[in-house]
Formats: sequence, C-alpha cells, structure tokens
Amino acid sequence: MKILITGASSGLGSEFARQLASFDNELVLLARREQNLLSLKDELQERCKNIEIVVVDVTDFELLQEKIAAVGYVDLLILNAGVSLKHSGNMPTIKEFKNLYDVNVLSNHAILEVLLPLFREKRSGKIVFISSLASLFSMPTSKVYSSSKRALNAYAEGVRYKYNKYGIKVISILPGFIKSELTDKNEFNMPFFLETQDAVKRMIKAIEKNKRVYAFPLRFYLIIRLLNILPSFLREKIVNSLNQT
Ligand SMILES: NC(=O)c1ccc[n+]([C@@H]2O[C@H](COP(=O)([O-])OP(=O)(O)OC[C@H]3O[C@@H](n4cnc5c(N)ncnc54)[C@H](OP(=O)(O)O)[C@@H]3O)[C@@H](O)[C@H]2O)c1
Repeated sequence: MKILITGASSGLGSEFARQLASFDNELVLLARREQNLLSLKDELQERCKNIEIVVVDVTDFELLQEKIAAVGYVDLLILNAGVSLKHSGNMPTIKEFKNLYDVNVLSNHAILEVLLPLFREKRSGKIVFISSLASLFSMPTSKVYSSSKRALNAYAEGVRYKYNKYGIKVISILPGFIKSELTDKNEFNMPFFLETQDAVKRMIKAIEKNKRVYAFPLRFYLIIRLLNILPSFLREKIVNSLNQT
C-alpha cells in the first residue's frame, strides 16, 4: 500500500509513519522540516518497503500541487498537517488567521484537486482528514482553530457524499488533546490527555475499520455533545466560567 502522510515531521504525523512502516507499505512523508523527515526516514527504512520524502510548505499551493502530481496515486492519504495559535486573550491578526486557514483547510483541497481524479479513475483510495474535537466546541481562545476544523468537517462530509459512489472512502477523525509540539505550547490543563502512540494506534484502528467519523476519547466527546445540547445561554455561562482570559 502507498501511503502519503502530510505533517509527518513531528507529532501525530511522525507516529503514523512509525506505526504504518512495514515491508508491505511505501510511505511518502511530507512537511517543511527536511532534517526531521530525513531522520525519520533513517529510523524507519530498515523495516519499510520504500520511503520518499517531500519537502514543501503546504501554503505554497502551486508547488504543493506539482509535488503531489509527481507522487501520483496513493492508496491512503492522511491529511494531517495542521497548526494552531497560542491560546490567549489577544485578537489573532489577519495574517495568522489566513495562514491557519491555508494550512488547516485550503491545502487539503489543493492536494485533493490533484489526487481525487486519480482516485476516481481507479475507483479506490482512502482519504483521512485529521480534524479535532475542537471543531465541535469553540472556546474564546481557540475560535480561529475551532472554526478551521469545523470548516474541514463540512468539506470532508461533502467529499464523502460525492465520492463514496466511486469506491473512495472518506474518514474524518476528531481527536481530543494528544501529546505533540502543538499541545506542548498549551499552558492550561488539558482534560483526557492522551499519549501520541496510544492516540495514533486508536486512529489507525478506525481507519482500518473505515469509520466515517471517529471522535475520541469517548468520554470527552460525550461531554462536548452534552454541552452542545444545552440551551445557548447556559452553555455561555459554562464557557465563561472556564475561560480565564
Ligand atoms: N495534538 C493534539 O492534541 C491534536 C488534537 C486534535 C487535532 N490535532 C491535529 O493533528 C494534526 C497534527 O498535529 P500535531 O498535534 O501532531 O502537531 P505538530 O507536532 O505541531 O505537527 C504539525 C505538523 O504539520 C506540519 N505543518 C505545519 N505547517 C505546515 C506547512 N505550512 N507546510 C507543511 N507542513 C506543515 C508540521 O511540519 P513542518 O513544521 O515541518 O512543516 C508538522 O509536521 C493537526 O492537524 C492538528 O490540528 C492535534
């Protein structure tokens, strides 16, 4: 199986590569930090069929599409590259907002614009969108990130409805807090925090089972679902009591 992982230079992306490395699999690892990708390749190549690295900034859409076209068809595409802003009471700048949307939302379409016709022609392929539980609940300090992941859910849902009739599987994964560089910068208590290895293991299981949407950890997900069915004035009271900024 040929597998393309975006955001493979750290965190969940690197761990996906570690857990998917095998003599049956060819990995394509994509990110900006070449040194990280090279070290990962060194670490895994003895137990993997083939590893290719693609060094590109996913916000350079033109170059990204050239590189993806050169990679060609993949059996499994894990759209994992993502950024967040530091949680704070400050208003994000429009530049930060745009970059976050370019990475978390638009770059995925840039990749799919190239790959979906290939998937459709082959009548196969699996697309995994790494979203977040934050897409289901917006805190004042994470509104830009939450909104980008909610946009990603809506986009993924549309792709699923359009392409499932061509044998293409579309999976949305909504994780809670997981150890990575992204969460290392959080200065608040993260409920139901998971170790990277454990979280990625759960995600791979969901991908193998072709779950359409996989939100986890379950208890955290259920709490968010519960908050979402409360009347909005009550939800607002709870959010304001949790928010320190
Ligand atoms: N950790 C969590 O608690 C958590 C929870 C829910 C969802 N997620 C999602 O999981 C995904 C992976 O995040 P992570 O937690 O593993 O964080 P991470 O360690 O910071 O990894 C982010 C990855 O995205 C890549 N990336 C960022 N900007 C890029 C750009 N402009 N061009 C190319 N690659 C770029 C980074 O590579 P380079 O810097 O080398 O380019 C890195 O490999 C993200 O989509 C995140 O939103 C994480």
